[in-house]
Amino acid sequence: MIVGIPKEIKNNESRVGMTPAGVFEMVKNNHKVYVQSEAGEGSGFFNQDYQQAGAIILDTIGQVYAMSEMIVKVKEPIAEEYDLIQEGQILFTYFHFASSEALTKAMIKQKAVCIAYETVEDEEGTLPLLTPMSEVAGRMAIQQGAKYLEKPAKGRGVLLGGVPGVAPGKVLVLGAGVVGVQAAKMAAGLGAHVTIMDINMKRLRYVNDVMPPHVVTEFSNEFNIRRLIKTHDLIIGGVLLKGAKAPNLITRDMLKEMRPGTVIVDVAVDQGGCVETTRPTTHEDPIYIIDDVVHYSVANMPGAVPYTSTMALTNVTLSYALKLANLGWEAACEKDASLKKGLNIVKGEVVYQEIIEAFGWEEVIA
Ligand SMILES: NC(=O)c1ccc[n+]([C@@H]2O[C@H](COP(=O)([O-])OP(=O)(O)OC[C@H]3O[C@@H](n4cnc5c(N)ncnc54)[C@H](O)[C@@H]3O)[C@@H](O)[C@H]2O)c1
Repeated sequence: MIVGIPKEIKNNESRVGMTPAGVFEMVKNNHKVYVQSEAGEGSGFFNQDYQQAGAIILDTIGQVYAMSEMIVKVKEPIAEEYDLIQEGQILFTYFHFASSEALTKAMIKQKAVCIAYETVEDEEGTLPLLTPMSEVAGRMAIQQGAKYLEKPAKGRGVLLGGVPGVAPGKVLVLGAGVVGVQAAKMAAGLGAHVTIMDINMKRLRYVNDVMPPHVVTEFSNEFNIRRLIKTHDLIIGGVLLKGAKAPNLITRDMLKEMRPGTVIVDVAVDQGGCVETTRPTTHEDPIYIIDDVVHYSVANMPGAVPYTSTMALTNVTLSYALKLANLGWEAACEKDASLKKGLNIVKGEVVYQEIIEAFGWEEVIA
């Protein structure tokens, strides 16, 4: 198969869809790999690294899309890329369709085969291609939250770890999944008091078993959330309803209940956010303030640490990309039930039910 690796053009996105190590494996399996010139520079991989691994470097993104049967990338295509996508071309990347009707309609129109990293699901119901980026984002959420809690950054002026004689800051984590647990672990490591919430008792039991005593669990419901937001300095949004819009656990009226300078890092922004007032921001302009509450909601957080993120991502995507290249998408999805779950739109037809539900569409678009 001919595999193309374009340079990511989303704002401040420096990750790349495949490392030279991935290219090496593809070429070893007799596939041809085109890499757009400088596609990997932001992650520390240069043209000559790719060439040594067996890739052919192309000058433009247009050439990569035009000459490849499968595109492997990181973020969803942005508007400038829509028309480059060809009928029947495999796109293997993050899409997060449920949060963008415009993207969904564009992909239906282009008639590509869209396999979304975020819905590939293994037998245990976990999402293996979301996990590493959630690990990065969860850990980073505390780093960012701690920064914006500083007074010059518009926060409350609280040091998360406290100091002897002064109580530590309080972190409220919504969702005890991958993001939530990684965030809780980092916050606990800094010495903060952490409350972590979920509706899944299994997750709360797990957290209770593995975390130190200054990480406490609470069941997630509106009553408890309203009570806890009044006393916590930093709130991390890490909830997920697979393939669907995140529920608004914090509504606009609740902001008034929080203390001025409270910081919300809504990691779930890529699924619409779990805070009503969340809107996507960028690394260039990451925060905005509503009712004296600082909102940080960068939709591609791992993009800020591309060196770590690219390797973490390609560690898990490569085996699936190889399967797609070796067998073709139909046979690969037939053989691998996890990969099949990644099929979202196939040649103009939405095949992932939650997308249809997210937009209130009544029937599958044919
Ligand atoms: N902004 C970014 O850069 C970035 C990066 C990685 C992941 N994400 C997003 O972060 C979110 C979380 O990802 P994850 O991998 O941790 O998912 P996950 O499935 O591991 O965890 C989600 C958790 O939310 C819980 N949940 C569901 N409804 C809830 C509710 N009402 N109250 C409390 N908890 C509830 C689930 O039970 C689950 O434990 C996703 O939307 C993901 O796309 C964003």
